[in-house]
Amino acid sequence: MTKVLIATVKPFASNAVNGIREVCEKAGYEMALLEKYGSEDDLIKAVADANAVIIRSDNITKEVIDAGNNLKIIVRAGAGYDNVDLQAATAKGVVVMNTPGQNSNAVAELALGMMVYMARNGYNGSAGTELRGKKIGIHAFGHVGQLVGKIANGFGMKVYAFDPFIADEKIRDFGATPVNSAEELYKECQYISLHIPANEKTKGSINYALLSSMPEGATLVNTARKEVINEEDLKKVMRERGDFKYISDIAPDCAPEIESNFSGRFFFTPKKMGAQTAEANNNAGIAAAEQIVGFIEKNDITFKVN
Ligand code: 3PG
Repeated sequence: MTKVLIATVKPFASNAVNGIREVCEKAGYEMALLEKYGSEDDLIKAVADANAVIIRSDNITKEVIDAGNNLKIIVRAGAGYDNVDLQAATAKGVVVMNTPGQNSNAVAELALGMMVYMARNGYNGSAGTELRGKKIGIHAFGHVGQLVGKIANGFGMKVYAFDPFIADEKIRDFGATPVNSAEELYKECQYISLHIPANEKTKGSINYALLSSMPEGATLVNTARKEVINEEDLKKVMRERGDFKYISDIAPDCAPEIESNFSGRFFFTPKKMGAQTAEANNNAGIAAAEQIVGFIEKNDITFKVN
């Protein structure tokens, strides 16, 4: 019998687990659940007899992949797959997929929610500022970026976007103004919302030149990955500019320094929670299960990333 393992340090909402179970049962598969596991060893043991694995930001190393004797497919229920060793998976003939778009709305809502929170000084009772009329630059205009643009338009913000992989016309169709470079975007916009993936090209790419060029009252909103920020440069800009704020879904490595030096100019979620809604868990989890069934039954590789 085909065995599907859900391996999530950060568990799905229970309705999503039930939904995944239903998809598995309908296909005649067995489902196993490994939640909040303590070590890679636990994952290595659990993966040994699984044919398919559904994960979130769980680290899928070469060791984990090699332990999957019968492993055919890993689906990252979500967008970013920087947590999976793609090379090791490909070498072992294991297909890796993500579920693009399924959790985007949750992430976009969090981005705007954190912006309002920061603009209103953490709801501390003092006079804050409004989002209306401010310029927001969306750095990468994929599923999440497009929704951030749509919601920001609803707030009456002026929306700009930079994405070399998306046609200007499409950016305009979504109500945003395309710009030609990241440099132009950061120079123009008081708010920057980051949606670039973390890869060898982008890690550390959000640097001093970009951040220091932002207009007065700059706020950087990061619901992407902490690794894309050059943290030394971020701290330098925050030291030099008392107006510069940083909001991030998951704390940077340098959080203790930011917390002790830049009071009122940062907000970090305690764990990555952009996609942490019942709806997003349901959408991404069930899509992952359906993609597994599609792959095993019909060799459908639509969302293959390796
Ligand atoms: C993603 O890449 O889909 C988001 O960062 C969400 O990740 P999570 O499933 O670990 O919350």
